[in-house]
Amino acid sequence: MTSDPDAPDPDFSLDHVRREGLMASPGTELVTHDGTGRVELSFNVEDAGGAPPTQRSVRVPPGVTVFDSASWNGIAIDSTCGGHGTCHKCKVRVTSVVEEVAQRPSRNPTPVSRHDVRTFTRDQLDAGWRLACLVQATRDLKVDVPPLTTRPKAATVGVGRQVILRPAVQKRYVELAEPDLSDQRTDLDRLLAAIDDLAPQPDLHALRRLPHVLRAADWKVTAVVVDEVLVDVEPGDTTGQRYAIAFDLGTTTVVATLLDVALGTPVGVASMLNKQQPYGGDVITRISATMLDPQTLPRLQQAAATTLAELAAQVCREGGVDPQQVYEVAIAGNATMTALVLGIDPEPLGVAPFVMATAQPPTVLASDVGLDVHPRARAVFFPALGAYVGGDIVAGMLATGMDRDKRTRLFIDVGTNCELVVSDGDRILSTAAPAGPAFEGGAIRCGMRAADGAIEVIKLGATPEDAVQLGVIGDVEPKGLCGSGLVDAVAELVRVGLLDVSGRFVPDEQAPEVAPALADRLTRIGEERVFVLHRPHADAVPEECVVLSQRDVRELQFAKAAISTGWTLLLEELGLEHRDVQQVLMAGSFGSYISPASAVRIGLVPKLPVLRIVSAGNVAGEGAKMALLSVRERAGAAALLQEVTYVELSDRPDFNDRFVDQLAF
Ligand code: FES
Repeated sequence: MTSDPDAPDPDFSLDHVRREGLMASPGTELVTHDGTGRVELSFNVEDAGGAPPTQRSVRVPPGVTVFDSASWNGIAIDSTCGGHGTCHKCKVRVTSVVEEVAQRPSRNPTPVSRHDVRTFTRDQLDAGWRLACLVQATRDLKVDVPPLTTRPKAATVGVGRQVILRPAVQKRYVELAEPDLSDQRTDLDRLLAAIDDLAPQPDLHALRRLPHVLRAADWKVTAVVVDEVLVDVEPGDTTGQRYAIAFDLGTTTVVATLLDVALGTPVGVASMLNKQQPYGGDVITRISATMLDPQTLPRLQQAAATTLAELAAQVCREGGVDPQQVYEVAIAGNATMTALVLGIDPEPLGVAPFVMATAQPPTVLASDVGLDVHPRARAVFFPALGAYVGGDIVAGMLATGMDRDKRTRLFIDVGTNCELVVSDGDRILSTAAPAGPAFEGGAIRCGMRAADGAIEVIKLGATPEDAVQLGVIGDVEPKGLCGSGLVDAVAELVRVGLLDVSGRFVPDEQAPEVAPALADRLTRIGEERVFVLHRPHADAVPEECVVLSQRDVRELQFAKAAISTGWTLLLEELGLEHRDVQQVLMAGSFGSYISPASAVRIGLVPKLPVLRIVSAGNVAGEGAKMALLSVRERAGAAALLQEVTYVELSDRPDFNDRFVDQLAF
């Protein structure tokens, strides 16, 4: 059993954490938060061309910087230092500061860092100007984002990663001399001589277009080169239009980010449910579906292709970009999603000994995966470490710099299949833990996806007025419980004592002593004990309420035990203890939204101060962006195949005993 997370850790000091670089960048005034709940940031993004600003609202766990919140959601803010507080370019105006000052003139509640003082005048500070990477969002904020002013040579992506722009997509504008009888060089030689820094191989599409385009455009053309292949010649100067799309191809949700690879900035972001959903919520069900009916594989492939195509069309529309100017896409997906979108039989992934067709899928044409972008656009895939630690996790490792950071870090991507990576700055180990569907709302009585009506945050209080406080997505009537709400519910019930360490609700007669304001919410549906989180009306019977049942607690308990057994064994392999972990990165669409405090309380992550538990966002999508912005980073992803050791846990003789040890809260 583990110790009380509220007890001060004797080995922990803020100064230590600051020195390790685990807190926000130097110069940030310390903003404390308890690691629970959500804050909302309302961005007003100004347009460089003078078009009306666009409004975007995002909800993030408290403590995430304004810079990261924006960048996770595809909003570009100037930067050349990667969010480290040194370039002084990430200027934004926190407009809510002005309202706050008006309300409480004695105190300016949005802190001013010493870097802010160096960057802005007093008047600007009073008007709310701040460096975005130094403002931690600990409450709701309104933020004006000015248009980009610099033509960057680098872009900030992932978790504070600074990427020097060297995309595989290159363009060169040339004005060629017309041939004559004294200069009968071929069209291709003439063009290649003018772009001799690239030396590409021509492809047939480009050759077919070359003679006509050169002459029609009066020999003023732009050569389009992707990964050392001349894929097109375009009339006139189109060097300003270089786009690529990064896809996070998740089992549940697919996210697309349209990137301007010349600037390194996102132009549009869209997400939707994977259209493979009707074939099953998790990879095993989909693999089983292909085994039962041979027609299912092409249908699943088509469903994935349609999802990607619709998202591509949507981001191009949003960004006002001609899809023909999208020359490359990167796809980060788990091994099953990757196999299915490529039409590769996934059956061997679903049965022991769990073997992939290949660790590194080949680069194909984007049209091969159903995309209607430039006809010669490439689709690149991430390598996979194993059947259950796929390309999405390799992309996540790239985005979080797991291979370069010298600190001891634990990366957790929470989902039905939970992937774990531990690095001690020298060795990197990874494994997968079967966590089951609880985090996605599956097998949970009132479980649902993180959509409108889902309870995502829960706090329990001691008085009837604040007995149960709920944060609900969309601020609508609660309909159910999503993964982060489930974790909060259990963590809070453990904290107030209504759940004991074994995960059982305390007996009815004990409840009024333990938590008087909450005891009447402990009731039954049939034989099963439930805790009522939301009553739609005063007379509602338990069946009409949003409840947490005893079985739900068990489901979460099994999930967290699988995960914590996984990272405990990985740490042991490296000769490390829990407290040696300097940073925990909670990744993925579920992990990023789990409250750090609740994750610590139920033992989903090591018992560490919440400042060490970092929401890392959609790191698979960020890794895909990095691969498109930098061929060097792309090579880094390939190198991870050699650097990371995959550890198989399921055949360890002590696995079951360890799992049982980890069930307690
Ligand atoms: S100071 Fe460089 S990103 Fe904030």
